[in-house]
Amino acid sequence: MVDIGSGAGKFCVAGALFGKCRFIGLEKYSSLVTSARALADVFDLTDRISFLAGALGSVTIPVGDAYYFFNPFGEYWLGADYPLEAGAEFTDTRFADDVAAAEDLLRRAPVGTWILTYNGFGGRVPAGYELVRVDWELRGVLRLWRKLGDAARTGTRRPPAPREVRDLIRTMSQANPLWGAPRIHGELLKVGTFVASRVAASRTR
Ligand SMILES: C[S@@+](CC[C@H](N)C(=O)[O-])C[C@H]1O[C@@H](n2cnc3c(N)ncnc32)[C@H](O)[C@@H]1O
Repeated sequence: MVDIGSGAGKFCVAGALFGKCRFIGLEKYSSLVTSARALADVFDLTDRISFLAGALGSVTIPVGDAYYFFNPFGEYWLGADYPLEAGAEFTDTRFADDVAAAEDLLRRAPVGTWILTYNGFGGRVPAGYELVRVDWELRGVLRLWRKLGDAARTGTRRPPAPREVRDLIRTMSQANPLWGAPRIHGELLKVGTFVASRVAASRTR
């Protein structure tokens, strides 16, 4: 998991404590990288976490199975609750460059790549990614995406949704004829059933 804008390392450390993933944090402020490395050391996690100092777009981004974005460029319009380093630049051009670099990274990522966004990253997730899950229970919105291959996008490789989910979609659709696929998709998410909107669409047609 690569955390783009890893700050003081909270996400990487918490994630490594709860799971078995390896984490790499990329952070543009070197003082935060120093804090993050110290935090990983406190929890004895330096074998599974590393932090790289550098800005997206100006360093080689580590390759990951998954990328995490916790609104990394929010500081351009929200300000920051961490010390900004001398020379930090907050121009519209810089913001646009950062967002473009993130979109480019996601566009080039191989099929199967996961993305986790918390309050987005200021840009658009490129075509080819499927929104797998949305979690509204936190203060912000957490979204999980996965890059699909062409075959999966046309529905030829992905296994069908379980029978009970398909029956549920049909029942909801018949009981609520004015509901379209997005509404059914949203209602299912509320009760914790995660189906691709594509599945909801195919069942409500
Ligand atoms: C909201 S914090 C997220 C912290 C961390 N991901 C977490 O969840 O604990 C966003 C971080 O992104 C960093 N950042 C902003 N622009 C960046 C860029 N172009 N390259 C690398 N890091 C960046 C900021 O310095 C800040 O530390």
